[in-house]
Amino acid sequence: MPPPTLHRRQLLAGLAAGALASGPLRSLAAGAPPALGAGIRLIANENPYGPSPAALAAMRTAASRGAYYPGPERGELIGRIAAANDLDEEAVVVSSGSSEALNAACLAWGRAGRIVAPAVTFDIQLRYAERLGVSVQRVPLADDLQIDLDAMAAAVDDGVSLVYLCNPNNPTGLALPREQLEAFIDRVAPRAVVLIDEAYNELAADPAAQSMLHRVQAGHNVIVTRTFSKIHGLAGLRIGYAMAPPVLAETLRQHVMSFPSSVAYAGALASYEDRAFLQHSRRMVAEGRSLVQETLRRNRVRYLPTEANFIYADIGRDADAFQAAMKAEGVLIRGVYGPYRTWSRISMGRLEDLERFAGIFDRVYNAEIT
Ligand SMILES: Cc1ncc(COP(=O)(O)O)c(C=O)c1O
Repeated sequence: MPPPTLHRRQLLAGLAAGALASGPLRSLAAGAPPALGAGIRLIANENPYGPSPAALAAMRTAASRGAYYPGPERGELIGRIAAANDLDEEAVVVSSGSSEALNAACLAWGRAGRIVAPAVTFDIQLRYAERLGVSVQRVPLADDLQIDLDAMAAAVDDGVSLVYLCNPNNPTGLALPREQLEAFIDRVAPRAVVLIDEAYNELAADPAAQSMLHRVQAGHNVIVTRTFSKIHGLAGLRIGYAMAPPVLAETLRQHVMSFPSSVAYAGALASYEDRAFLQHSRRMVAEGRSLVQETLRRNRVRYLPTEANFIYADIGRDADAFQAAMKAEGVLIRGVYGPYRTWSRISMGRLEDLERFAGIFDRVYNAEIT
């Protein structure tokens, strides 16, 4: 984290200008909670516009009943998710963050065979599986950094029990073409469970068209995971869910080790169908993407077309060194991911923070290449 003095300097600068232009001040003025810590946090694909006011109110009430174990809100949330996705309640597994459902899938099916996954993707659950002794086969991305579905399908033999896909993928932000994904599932699902992580689905161009939910509804060998950590802005509350045909869902449920708190259930329930908040978040992410893309274009930095709340950009130099240089200026972004040593991932933040990011990026990027 940047030194604490930075925060004070920023506050003083804002006050001296007599304006509410700087991030922390504008956040407070708008009644929103202040940002986490001093720096500009563009590192974990969060939604700093959350939690929604309705979620905050519901969580306060739930916290006041914190003496009791989670009760009706759990069943209510499962019922809402099931109804909204045209599924039976038995097909929904809520867990402490979607990463817990992903871990549970790796634990459950990893015992029965290898796991096949893209070489560059969200991989906390894959590393967890490896620590359990499960063999994970990582398939390199294609030249255009898209997940190589053909190569992945070719890797699936009778020794494979689970295939993990992330759509849109993290860190690239690229969504998989629907027809190719359908063909992949036709080919692979008869042999292995296909686990599709849709953590960023609600931020994609056409969420319904990009989701493989209909495969779950049809009872195919497919699990779809979603989360309240991204568009809902509830990452700190740790709540996500999986949707799967009931037999797969039951296996998953038996392997989940950590379920959400009543506060998380209440926040998720209030946020789940809060259309105004979700639309607002989508709009803020879209505006943020434009702002960051404009910054990258201005500096002639190549980036991938994203369908999520982050942008993957080739900054043409060691991404860890660039991350450190940005951090020294109070901006947190991602460093190297896998073999792509010159690519950085920049998450969306509040617009005022992205405006400050733009100025700092211009300075740091140009200082380093001269
Ligand atoms: C693709 C993907 N899946 C899952 C997660 C984990 O989400 P959760 O907070 O629901 O555990 C993340 C978090 O960044 C992610 O990028």
